[in-house]
Amino acid sequence: MEFNHLLQEDCALVEGFLAACFNNRPQYGQIYEAMQYSLMAGGKRIRPVLTLETCRMCGGDVMAALPFACAVEMIHTYSLIHDDLPCMDDDDLRRGKPTNHKVFGEATAVLAGDALLTAAFEIICEHADGLDPKRVLAAMDCLSHAAGAAGMIGGQMLDMDGESRTLSLDELKLLQSLKTGALIRAAAELGCIVAGGDEATRQAVREYAQCVGRAFQVRDDMLDVTSSAEVLGKPIGSDAENEKATFVSALGLERCGQLVDELTEQAIAALDGMKDTEFHIWLAKQMAGRES
Ligand code: IPE
Ligand code: IPE
Ligand code: MG
Ligand code: MG
Ligand code: MG
Repeated sequence: MEFNHLLQEDCALVEGFLAACFNNRPQYGQIYEAMQYSLMAGGKRIRPVLTLETCRMCGGDVMAALPFACAVEMIHTYSLIHDDLPCMDDDDLRRGKPTNHKVFGEATAVLAGDALLTAAFEIICEHADGLDPKRVLAAMDCLSHAAGAAGMIGGQMLDMDGESRTLSLDELKLLQSLKTGALIRAAAELGCIVAGGDEATRQAVREYAQCVGRAFQVRDDMLDVTSSAEVLGKPIGSDAENEKATFVSALGLERCGQLVDELTEQAIAALDGMKDTEFHIWLAKQMAGRES
């Protein structure tokens, strides 16, 4: 499959960059070991692939987008390390391996997450040579907003609030668009920014990623009920155990399935009139049907 091949190529670029990015650093205890443990544990690499392929779709150089793509994956990985902590979702398995705090202890897991968040901005700065500084600044602006209290962290806060009270469907949509949507949106936008895409292109990319991000979280909530830990690489039933407000608890499985399809159609429609959208259309459909 042509697109599968491209996906593998992109993943190989990301894996290579991430594996080498902390070489030759001074070692303080187990900090880099803990960071690399979660970073290299697998994962679908959807966000960095979105950055690389959006850059390509917008006419940019994929290699210039690579540090930005890996920065998003670092922030995503940090969010997972913290999400699994006993004070949050309290999960023991991630990417098919024991969670970071199970291996390194809670204090090191907190620090590894903090360090990955900081490292994301560090690697962007380190690899910014040769890129228009305005694009670098716009990328940092986009990524920091998406990762912070007005983005992913805000969503995680609402998610924790949802353990102690019933959320309305609108609150649930907001929660989702922040906790998962913000980083997926930023991942795609970074590709457009690095390529120097105009405002209309960025708007279309944002709309596409917003819909893909929504579908992604609805599917995540479904898989927490219907999948298995072996296939998913993380525990199932975690949401019910924590009495989370999810799309499944709000709408039921059947409606969730329809919603994923509707959102995928909307994502594809957002790219109408743009060139070279084949991979993005394929990826949106792959994500909708994903089993892990
Ligand atoms: C899991 O994200 C957390 C959510 C935001 C739903 P992914 O399903 O992309 O996890 P990895 O990166 O493949 O492990
Ligand atoms: C986590 O959402 C989203 C972030 C880490 C920002 P979930 O708690 O649903 O993710 P999983 O199911 O543990 O991967
Ligand atoms: Mg969570
Ligand atoms: Mg979780
Ligand atoms: Mg989940």
